[in-house]
Amino acid sequence: MEEDGALIINEKSNYKKMEGDSMKENGKCKTGIDELDRKLDGGIPKGNAVLMVGSSGSGKTTLCMQYLINGAEMGERGVFFTITEPLFKLTKNIENFGFYKKKYVEDGLVNIIDLRIISERLGLNSEKYNVEDASALLEVLKDIADELEVKRLVIDSITALCYRLQSDEMIRDFIFKLGSSLAGMGCTTILTSEIPPTKPGELKYSKYGIEEFIADGIIFLGDVNRRGDIIRTLQIIKMRGTSHSRTKSAMNISSKNGIELTPLLKSGE
Ligand SMILES: Nc1ncnc2c1ncn2[C@@H]1O[C@H](COP(=O)(O)OP(=O)(O)O)[C@@H](O)[C@H]1O
Ligand SMILES: [Mg+2]
Repeated sequence: MEEDGALIINEKSNYKKMEGDSMKENGKCKTGIDELDRKLDGGIPKGNAVLMVGSSGSGKTTLCMQYLINGAEMGERGVFFTITEPLFKLTKNIENFGFYKKKYVEDGLVNIIDLRIISERLGLNSEKYNVEDASALLEVLKDIADELEVKRLVIDSITALCYRLQSDEMIRDFIFKLGSSLAGMGCTTILTSEIPPTKPGELKYSKYGIEEFIADGIIFLGDVNRRGDIIRTLQIIKMRGTSHSRTKSAMNISSKNGIELTPLLKSGE
């Protein structure tokens, strides 16, 4: 199962194999969230597409924004495609965080683009896409990423995008096309995946069950119940191209620093 995605992103996998061990540090895209980079042995392998999975309110949007702002800090241009919330709402929420630096948005190092506005401009029905609409949208996405020469790309969320497609077959087709487009773009991507709150022990990473096959990595944002308190957790489920920790970390979202990770102490420690 784990390797299914390799069929789709063969070109990229070969590229990664060629790079081999020399990739190490400079082959990594640092998230800038120190503890996460440590868990990833330096960062996300460059060119990877990572699925950031969690239920509503788990911190997906915040983490992705921080990834782009931190990237800008390192001189890497990024683009955030939103389809879940309108631009003004997204900006208003993110402005409350200490890590947010408006100048990166003003300088064009962080580009926030509302996919619904793009689909309106393309003359698409923004609630329902047919096969041609989906292809057109994918083309625009790719053109924007190419033109801006972005190193970091976020789509928030892949779930909302798939929701607008009308059959499982279309969703499958779209996901695979997206996978090969991303493989050819040379940027490091985070796709968010919105799932209903999971029961303990339940392993589900996407609504449609196929999103994970185009992903080189899966990061799961969940929570655990600890003596009556609900604690946010972050766990790296898989990440091609690097060794990584698989242990759950406790995750906190603070106004000052955004995402903060600390070791999750086992009960009784
Ligand atoms: N300024 C803030 N300071 C601290 N925590 C915040 C702030 N803004 C939002 N949060 C927390 O982040 C959560 C939402 O995170 P978000 O990234 O939007 O989640 P998701 O995208 O997974 O739905 C909120 O439920 C709240 O707990
Ligand atoms: Mg969100």
